[in-house]
Amino acid sequence: MKISVFGLGYVGCVSAACLADMGHEVIGVDVNPKKLDMVRRGESPIIEPGLDELLKKVVDAGQLRVTEDAEAAVLDSDVSLICVGTPSRMNGSLDTHYMDRVMEQIGGALAKTDRFHVVTIRSTLLPGVMNEHIIPLLENTSGKKAGADFGLCINPEFLRESTAISDFRNPPFTVIGALDERSADIMEQVYADISAPVHKVDPNAASMVKYASNSFHALKVAFANEIGAICNDLGIDSQTVMHIFQQDRQLNISTAYLRPGFAFGGSCLPKDVRALLYTAKHRDVGTPLLSSILPSNDLHIQRAVDRIIAIGQRDVALIGLSFKSGTDDLRESPMVRLAETLIGKGYRLTIYDEEVSLSNLFGRNQEYIERVLPHIHELMNNDLETVASKNPVLIVGKQPKPPEKLKKLLKPEQIVLDLTGNGKWPPAQTIKIV
Ligand SMILES: NC(=O)c1ccc[n+]([C@@H]2O[C@H](COP(=O)([O-])OP(=O)(O)OC[C@H]3O[C@@H](n4cnc5c(N)ncnc54)[C@H](O)[C@@H]3O)[C@@H](O)[C@H]2O)c1
Repeated sequence: MKISVFGLGYVGCVSAACLADMGHEVIGVDVNPKKLDMVRRGESPIIEPGLDELLKKVVDAGQLRVTEDAEAAVLDSDVSLICVGTPSRMNGSLDTHYMDRVMEQIGGALAKTDRFHVVTIRSTLLPGVMNEHIIPLLENTSGKKAGADFGLCINPEFLRESTAISDFRNPPFTVIGALDERSADIMEQVYADISAPVHKVDPNAASMVKYASNSFHALKVAFANEIGAICNDLGIDSQTVMHIFQQDRQLNISTAYLRPGFAFGGSCLPKDVRALLYTAKHRDVGTPLLSSILPSNDLHIQRAVDRIIAIGQRDVALIGLSFKSGTDDLRESPMVRLAETLIGKGYRLTIYDEEVSLSNLFGRNQEYIERVLPHIHELMNNDLETVASKNPVLIVGKQPKPPEKLKKLLKPEQIVLDLTGNGKWPPAQTIKIV
């Protein structure tokens, strides 16, 4: 395939060289004449292991050439891969002025050709920017319709500087957020030699995967450093702690706890986060990240409360009271907190939980619920049919088993606030908070 790569910086140089090495015919475009000269000579304008050799190889083989003529590049290629910078402005917002300039140039070139061309944004771009900004810019300058007369994709890059070539060739996945199916298929062909799963999603989801990934990486570094700082103050070897921590592939380094849903609770997580924070505070070790965990969790419960208030019905059923499926532990359950708040606000609440039998609760679990919800006996009803038929609004915090049991009882005029993150409740209207 013929591919133009716009922006020969860290991402563009590596992408251009690797794509050329995969057999594509690549044209590199940049506004910086010094960078163009270097790449033209087969030299890397950035420090990146292996890149000098790779550039020399593909330039000598005629697989990669460079130009400052954006229009000529577009007219002579099937795909434009945009790798220009998207830096931060002073206030943190995204500065798209490099992107805008490229889009104007590409739009102008598209106006002059009937060849189908795919504009693919490899740079990191916030969700929404494509619809609000990029499409109008391309359509105004080209006089053509995005997704019909030309293709448009968001295709984020996941490489890391210093291991960029290997990362390009072995990505965890390829995410193609195309406006149209034809462009998605063309981009899939571009990466045909890369053996990684391909996810074809909508453009905003593609953008968000990149932001979720980088935010998570940043979160991990900050987390490890805060745990390390507490360890250091306590005279504990942080490297040993985190080395062992990393060996847990079931919960710690795993997909566990990463599905959006409702707040956490139970007898361990809130208590243990609180105790660790107390220790850090007592020893004057600042832990802004760890300190934000419980407020973030509280805010998530408040999101559910706000949604219920917005619905505007006073008769509400809560399906699920314990802190997760498969247990009757009510201690610090976010559903109990939700119930407490709604009762305080005067809602007429009915609670259903097939896993909670009040007569079987003992010890701290019983003490907790009787202290927090003293009238729990009057609120609970373990007849799902009655609970579902008598309430216009149902809050589902746990899927009843089987979920079909509840679905069969629902009516179109009912509203289900789904807190499980993955429930759909036809024929009732489903509202989500995540
Ligand atoms: N650096 C990374 O490791 C990395 C990894 C993944 C994603 N990203 C994202 O990729 C994008 C590019 O990052 P980078 O670090 O490669 O940027 P960079 O600043 O190194 O390179 C950008 C290049 O674009 C060129 N450019 C600017 N305007 C141009 C125009 N009109 N036409 C042609 N070229 C133009 C610049 O001269 C420069 O060479 C950013 O959105 C970044 O967030 C970066």
